[in-house]
Amino acid sequence: MCGIIGIVGVGPVAPRVVESLRRLEYRGYDSAGIAAHVGGRLDRRRAKGKIRDLEAVLAEEPLHATTGLGHTRWATHGAPSVRNAHPQKSGRVMLVHNGIIENFAALKAELKAMGREFESETDTEVVAQLIDVGLEAGKAPIDAFKAALGRISGAYALGALIEGHENLILGARRGSPLVVGYGEGEMFLGSDALAVGPFTHRISYLDEGDFVAIDHHGARIFDASGQPVERAIRAVSASAALVEKGNYRHFMEKEIHDQPDACQHTLSAYLDPIAGVAAAPEGFDFTTIDRLQILACGTAYYAGLVARYLIEDLAGLPTDVEVASEFRYRNPAVAPSTLALAVSQSGETADTLAALRWCKAKGLRTAAIVNAPESTMSREVDLLWPTHAGPEVCVLSTKAFTAQVTALTALGIAAARARARIDAEEEKRLVEVLLEAPRLLSEALEAVEDQVRPIALDVSRARDVLYLGRGPMFGLALEGALKLKEGSYIHAEGYAAGEMKHGPIALIDEDTPVIVVAPSDHFFEKTMSNISEVIARNGSVILVTDERGAAHAPANAKVVTVPECDPLIAPLIFATPLQLLAYQVGVSKGADVDQPRNLAKSVTVE
Ligand code: G6P
Repeated sequence: MCGIIGIVGVGPVAPRVVESLRRLEYRGYDSAGIAAHVGGRLDRRRAKGKIRDLEAVLAEEPLHATTGLGHTRWATHGAPSVRNAHPQKSGRVMLVHNGIIENFAALKAELKAMGREFESETDTEVVAQLIDVGLEAGKAPIDAFKAALGRISGAYALGALIEGHENLILGARRGSPLVVGYGEGEMFLGSDALAVGPFTHRISYLDEGDFVAIDHHGARIFDASGQPVERAIRAVSASAALVEKGNYRHFMEKEIHDQPDACQHTLSAYLDPIAGVAAAPEGFDFTTIDRLQILACGTAYYAGLVARYLIEDLAGLPTDVEVASEFRYRNPAVAPSTLALAVSQSGETADTLAALRWCKAKGLRTAAIVNAPESTMSREVDLLWPTHAGPEVCVLSTKAFTAQVTALTALGIAAARARARIDAEEEKRLVEVLLEAPRLLSEALEAVEDQVRPIALDVSRARDVLYLGRGPMFGLALEGALKLKEGSYIHAEGYAAGEMKHGPIALIDEDTPVIVVAPSDHFFEKTMSNISEVIARNGSVILVTDERGAAHAPANAKVVTVPECDPLIAPLIFATPLQLLAYQVGVSKGADVDQPRNLAKSVTVE
């Protein structure tokens, strides 16, 4: 996974950049590079492969400098190669980037029409070119940087060096984290606290939309509107750096906000944005199976339920989803052409593992979508399909859930193409839609946080809460209810909206909030009928929908509006208000949201 380290230092910079990049190796990467100011000019060294390959290049051709910028790249746009490795260069600019620039193709066409030439396939080079265009027009570095930020969309963290400005590093974050490190007469920029850990423990976490200029004297930080801002400096110990709360009060809050990054990192393993194709990591031929058996527990089970709709709809691949504790003891009848797919954050859950082993013993091929690469499941399965959510500390799963749904959605596209249910053009469209998810997650988080606050107040007074949804939103309703009961100890039930009349409708009264998750998709009208049934019985409805859906909300419903999105990624985007609601209700009730009573993060007993 991409990592960034920038150093405005006093000693030789190259060995320090390499030391930091080594710390970022845990994220996974396929190439690395370093740029530095050498004798008034910008120079760089890059290598495909490991940090030791970059070191070998540096040993041959050293970079003697005190200010530099390093990067580990996990290929998204363009194959792993020296040419596509970062730093990317354009004129007087060298740039490193984590994330995805969604509108890079349009910008590239525009820049080419201006006569500018490109040397890589990366989306990153487009941003370097945009900054250079600004510099050529006579803009000061920070203004050229800001102007470029105004042109790009997507989720990203950036770091830039500008020729002629020896002690300056520019940085920006939107959707991908970035920290500023404060040393003695030295300053640092890093993709996380671990990156700057070898040099300083005094760290500021940038907020969404912030950009920064660092030099020997300190950091000038600006918010998204360009206003100078202060971001608190805090002490972060090296050992804590990997699992750090940053500016957040709880891990749950932090991990909810990690989701654009977690989603993007996961996508990098499944999508080729340039070719517009989706594939299972290490490849898998979906025509060799007739059925998918998803096995999981808790939140991971709900990720499977959500995905079943997408996989069957897109790929026509029959998909069963079952809680592992039931599956393992009921002697299920499974056809030999079934792929057993475990979904698990930890890769250690005893029931899921046992179900997987049962399938293996029956001769089935096994796969696992797992967030912990060193886990037992990762080692035991035939096919390891990772999520890259990073360490999840809060017992309540949030970013691991959306990363699981992300991976399953990408696999659904890959299966659809392999099974000839979609053509190359439709695959490209779906890949483009999925690539928008990190940005939309980030926009959704920003949009719903304040909307959810007054609703959290109401919900925190309730004894029971009902969650309703149809289609993929049924799984999300179950997950929303689980989050609320785990985080706040309020009794909550998730139900298929159409099933409400077969039981839960008896519970409806003005004191029982009914949270309806309804994007404006083809289920919308049906779900609206269920809302009418609730309102007719004096129930209080909280409608979670998008802008188009909000226009049809009944007058007495409270509405939470998320950004409009394609149905393919609606489960990801609609997860955010439900998570934030559970978080805010839990905090307002004084519950220990990170470690609720009786629950464990990894359940290794049956
Ligand atoms: C526990 C956790 C849940 C998690 C479930 C499955 O119950 O508290 O958050 O969803 O286990 O865990 P796994 O690691 O297999 O995803």
